[in-house]
Amino acid sequence: MDFKKVLSRTTIVALTLSTLLFYNCNKDDDSPEEMGETETPTYTANIEGIMAGNCTTCHASTPTNGAPMSLVTYNQVVDAVNNRNLVSRINSTSAPMPQTGRMSATLRETIERWVEAGMPEN
Ligand code: HEC
Repeated sequence: MDFKKVLSRTTIVALTLSTLLFYNCNKDDDSPEEMGETETPTYTANIEGIMAGNCTTCHASTPTNGAPMSLVTYNQVVDAVNNRNLVSRINSTSAPMPQTGRMSATLRETIERWVEAGMPEN
């Protein structure tokens, strides 16, 4: 094997290593996303807004379009998680809520983390 080939292999290895290093460093710097995943969502800060933006057109204080309950207050949302399978319904592909299609993974994960944290109000 001649010198040029050795050199180009070395270059490829070096490039691969530096790409990996860069990727890892970059991941460490990605603090907003990582912080978002460790912060505990609360009803007031996160969930109320998600419900208002995606659910309360039907799950209003007086429910419309055939929705069976409201999702306007803290207690109503907690009740829907505990007794009406809210988490399964937002993740369902066969009967999703909202009916028009599932929300983004980020929003669904925020709701799941809130439930796992014990559904804090504030
Ligand atoms: C376009 C109107 C509409 C929107 C928007 C909507 N829903 Fe619904 N929802 C309904 C209707 C109608 C039902 C009853 C039929 C069914 O269960 O599919 C229902 C049922 C549900 C149920 C099951 C209730 C039970 O007792 O079985 C849950 C939980 C639910 N919705 C949560 C949500 C959440 C959370 C959102 C927002 C992320 C949402 N829905 C958005 C119309 C809507």
